[in-house]
Amino acid sequence: MGVEDPVVLESLANLSIDPAFVLDPEHRPTRKHNDYSISGGHVPVIDLAPLRQEKSSAEEGKVEPAVEDIVTKVGQACEEWGFFQVINHGVSLELLEELQATAKEFFDLPIEEKRKVRRTLNNGLGYYDTELTKNKRDWKEVFDFAVSKEFELHEGEENSSKTHNQWPSNPSRLREVCQKWSEAVERLALQLLGLISLSLGLPATHFHQHWHGAHMSAIRLNYYPVCPHPDVVLGVSRHKDPGALTVLVQDEVGGLEVRRKDGQWVGVQPRRDAFVINVGDAFQVWSNDKYQSIEHRVVVNENKDRFSFPLFFNPSAQTDVAPVPEILGQELPLYGPYNFGHFLATRSSGNYTLLGKENIQISDFAIN
Ligand code: SIN
Ligand code: FE2
Repeated sequence: MGVEDPVVLESLANLSIDPAFVLDPEHRPTRKHNDYSISGGHVPVIDLAPLRQEKSSAEEGKVEPAVEDIVTKVGQACEEWGFFQVINHGVSLELLEELQATAKEFFDLPIEEKRKVRRTLNNGLGYYDTELTKNKRDWKEVFDFAVSKEFELHEGEENSSKTHNQWPSNPSRLREVCQKWSEAVERLALQLLGLISLSLGLPATHFHQHWHGAHMSAIRLNYYPVCPHPDVVLGVSRHKDPGALTVLVQDEVGGLEVRRKDGQWVGVQPRRDAFVINVGDAFQVWSNDKYQSIEHRVVVNENKDRFSFPLFFNPSAQTDVAPVPEILGQELPLYGPYNFGHFLATRSSGNYTLLGKENIQISDFAIN
């Protein structure tokens, strides 16, 4: 039954909500944003503290047992969940608080003010409040910016695989705070990339070449306002992330849900000291389905605005993504190669945008 159904249309008329947001019944949330009572396991939490310990020069180059233990846990989490949380990650809480306060100041501005830095196909990244996921409007507002200086298009330059960053004049410190945040989170993402590579039996630096220079990573500031009808809409509908990794921090409100292997939607319990990590479609292809990109969505609520700040860690435009021969061994590849830049560029028309929520149709590249 879709929203076109007359019975549904009649009941929608009684809701004070734009039907563009209203989900078909089978895709509506089944649990409140802060209900973690489901049995059968939650997204694992991994302590990265051993990575921060000083190494003596004699030990350099060796993988220590404590690090091996982290690698094992990361591998298990990627296989079983596609998601995990990390604590003792090295990103300062003060910086997070500064970002949160500045982001709130921006989203509290009047809509006309925010729309001065509106994201369009010509303007590049910036503010956006009408994103569709699976053709339903998300109950959220976002502000996006590119991470790599080399990925930014500069005055007078023409290059369709680069993008502009737009910064609001108010709050004037947003740009500086975002840049500090971006450096800190990019460092963490590279470490995680190393741990995931090790967990797949590859050298820690195996994938790093794809992040030299103009990688297509971006950071999003997500603002999910309170919602009068959280039972019929979502902050973000179910989707998978197209890039390599997502490194996200969420506030204490809760709402991110992950689809467990048994099909159940499970809330990711907020921790002030944690980042939520998930592998995206590129890792699914690189690992030939050993690590799968998992569906997730965001439940909103009537009482509290929610903020989350993901880094979408995307490789450079030149990257050809294909199953890695060392991982394949004797296995047959499930995917043919695709070029990451071309993939994003060809999806920048229509209602897919560079960082849009349509997930990559990796089946386009699947061999069967
Ligand atoms: C997303 O997957 O786009 C956002 C997730 C979140 O806000 O927690
Ligand atoms: Fe996502």
